[in-house]
Amino acid sequence: MLAYRHLFHAGNFADVFKHALLTRLLIALGKKDKPFFYLDTHAGIGRYDLNHEWAQKLAEHRDGIARLWERTDIPGPLEPYMACVRAENAGGRLRWYPGSPRIARAFLRPGDRAELTELNRDDANALGKLFDGDRQVHVHLMDGYQALKAFLPPKERRGLVLIDSSFDRAREFARLTDALATAHRRWASGVYALWYPLMDGTAMHAFERGVVATGIRRILKLELSVLPEGWNESLRGCGLLLVNPPYGLEDEARKMLPWLWRTLSEERTGGTEVRWVVPE
Ligand SMILES: C[S@@+](CC[C@H](N)C(=O)[O-])C[C@H]1O[C@@H](n2cnc3c(N)ncnc32)[C@H](O)[C@@H]1O
Repeated sequence: MLAYRHLFHAGNFADVFKHALLTRLLIALGKKDKPFFYLDTHAGIGRYDLNHEWAQKLAEHRDGIARLWERTDIPGPLEPYMACVRAENAGGRLRWYPGSPRIARAFLRPGDRAELTELNRDDANALGKLFDGDRQVHVHLMDGYQALKAFLPPKERRGLVLIDSSFDRAREFARLTDALATAHRRWASGVYALWYPLMDGTAMHAFERGVVATGIRRILKLELSVLPEGWNESLRGCGLLLVNPPYGLEDEARKMLPWLWRTLSEERTGGTEVRWVVPE
């Protein structure tokens, strides 16, 4: 049994950052007629009850989605994300938070397909129930890193892979880099989104060096931190590494992230970064 349960963190600032960008990636994929494929290697349970005692324990959503919920000045690029959250809360009160599988489902068109893998048996069961009978979405109790070998390359030849590790094991940055290299060898034209937590400078530099050493081109780094550098009592920030980001995504991120930072940061500490780690 894995120790990490996302319900303790659902709807926190890192989820807002990741899911808002996820909607932009899915919208971009839906612009072409041809079907796309979506793989979520670390899928979680798909929908989170913020009233559950686990979610209430740290109540991280209060400094996350709750800060956006009542806002009437949501910037345009963030609207589709907010629409996904509103769709879970028909009564108008924030209680349910959609995970990445549920958000992705909202953007699948009739010919598109999603494969979701989750290694925690209970979570995989909950996810399976959520998508029971859905012919476009398939749930697997499977190691997400194995899933990259099992499902890539997809027959659709276009699509997105989200690798959203819980980072609860040592050497996860190295594992993530190796997994990206393996996946990219199998399917070089796919869009990849890798979530990671911001740690100390040494760890982050090593991660970036490792990613550059894979030889993969077109890697865009997006980061948001809401607490000062050196803060280590809780997650201070996170990033999304994008390989082959769709056209326009960089500009959207440059508009969205400063607004998210102003809305989510504690006393205006931290910041945002949008940078090509490896260009074309
Ligand atoms: C950060 S949560 C996922 C959240 C989800 N992607 C979302 O955005 O709603 C990470 C999940 O990965 C699962 N997990 C941990 N190690 C895994 C592995 N090797 N393969 C697949 N799932 C794993 C955990 O049980 C947890 O549910």
